[in-house]
Amino acid sequence: MPARSTPILLVEDTPSLARVYAEFLKKDCSAVTTVETGAAALDQLADGVPRIVLLDLQLPDMHGMDVLKRISAQALPCAVIIITAHGSVGVAVEAMRYGAYDFLVKPFSAERLTVTVRNAMERLRLAQLVDSFEKDLGRSRYHGFLGSSLAMQAVYRIIDSAASSRATVFITGESGTGKEVCAEAIHRQSPRADRPFIAINCGAIPKDLMESEIFGHMKGSFTGAVADREGAAARANGGTLFLDEICELAPDLQTKLLRFIQTGTFTPVGGSRLEKVDLRIICATNRDPLREVEEGRFREDLYYRLHVIPIHLPPLREREDDVLEICRQFLADYSREEGKGFARFSPAAEQALRTYHWPGNVRQVQNVVRNIVVLHDGDTVTPAMLPAPLGTPAGTAAPLPANGGGNGHGGAHAPAHAPAHFAPQAPSPKTVKPLWEVERDAIEEAIAACDGNIPRAAALLEISASTIYRKRLAWQAEGKL
Ligand SMILES: Nc1ncnc2c1ncn2[C@@H]1O[C@H](COP(=O)(O)OP(=O)(O)OP(=O)(O)O)[C@@H](O)[C@H]1O
Ligand SMILES: [Mg+2]
Repeated sequence: MPARSTPILLVEDTPSLARVYAEFLKKDCSAVTTVETGAAALDQLADGVPRIVLLDLQLPDMHGMDVLKRISAQALPCAVIIITAHGSVGVAVEAMRYGAYDFLVKPFSAERLTVTVRNAMERLRLAQLVDSFEKDLGRSRYHGFLGSSLAMQAVYRIIDSAASSRATVFITGESGTGKEVCAEAIHRQSPRADRPFIAINCGAIPKDLMESEIFGHMKGSFTGAVADREGAAARANGGTLFLDEICELAPDLQTKLLRFIQTGTFTPVGGSRLEKVDLRIICATNRDPLREVEEGRFREDLYYRLHVIPIHLPPLREREDDVLEICRQFLADYSREEGKGFARFSPAAEQALRTYHWPGNVRQVQNVVRNIVVLHDGDTVTPAMLPAPLGTPAGTAAPLPANGGGNGHGGAHAPAHAPAHFAPQAPSPKTVKPLWEVERDAIEEAIAACDGNIPRAAALLEISASTIYRKRLAWQAEGKL
């Protein structure tokens, strides 16, 4: 049954008839606007689209068909019901071809009119429902994301619903699953989209500088603080603050962040005045945050403050054929960028891409496709062009290290090369390396194995990410890296 406020535009040039029809409609609809000419109808439509247009064909200034054609051409979301005199049913049928929903032949009863209007309303409602389902199910791109799998449709829907709120979003997912892409999508989908999006990586900034990175500092507050500096919180005012690798945050800063979230205020390092900002916090980690809490590395109260809207990004191997959609898009993009002519993957290459378990997720796909495009030529990517471990002939390879998949079922689908350094070497004085070099190589190999993700490499090495950053800075300064 139509709501009483359903807007109806009644276009009828005979005032007495218009009054009768409006009276018929009053029971169901209070918002009936009556006009007598085609021009007035078009003006009304320009002001706002009603749900239903009741359209007489014989108008003083134009034919009702012209009004209908305008509505069709602009694909206005309303249902048109034609009112026609006895004898011009042929024209009414033609009107149906132009998208009219139904027609009424004068004279008609109140009941006939209300039933037709109700049916039109129901059809509009169903059409909108179908539209929204198509929109929800059919998305193969969403902001920076590619992929139409059901798992990703669910992610897009959560972002749609969460974007308008200020509630904190906690993104989890393996390395390379798109956590940063997700944070940006939330920001861009939100009413804060035209305000700043400030991202800071809690694992990449040395511990001593972190407080100033987030909250800023006053001139002279520590050695090197030569001027006042705004932190990320102040720069994100009005917008979104993305705290990436949140589990790497040192305990004292976890306490300060908790206070900031509770009060919305902070004091810059060396400052005495409280500053207030309005921002939305999004955080991400590729660790299991509850385990970090259980093992005492992450404050439980902070976890619950942050974990308001959780979004888990599924690993690529659980996203149906997204991997092929993503590979094809990257192949087109990188071929264009590198001036190559690749247009497709061969069926056998696609099979290899589809069955590989992608421990490095989308970031690894980027590396693999870039590698293919840079090192080869042609229009079709063949299995021989796939880099190891994808291109390894079956039976010659060792399984991938178990850490790659992150959830224990990685490694089951595809073979992989054993890295050269796993081969046993006979010890000799010549092969003994300085301890710093052994340490450096172990760290660099771990970083490479994690596709450049330092916090993940640190977790596998069971040291903190800031240790890695500190050591690398020192090696760089000494020319050892
Ligand atoms: N669904 C996707 N479609 C297209 N590109 C993607 C998708 N997911 C991730 N990417 C791309 O893959 C790369 C890695 O994504 P991102 O940095 O967001 O991953 P992450 O989950 O934050 O990884 P990490 O835990 O290692 O920081 C980026 O270049 C990003 O643009
Ligand atoms: Mg990231």
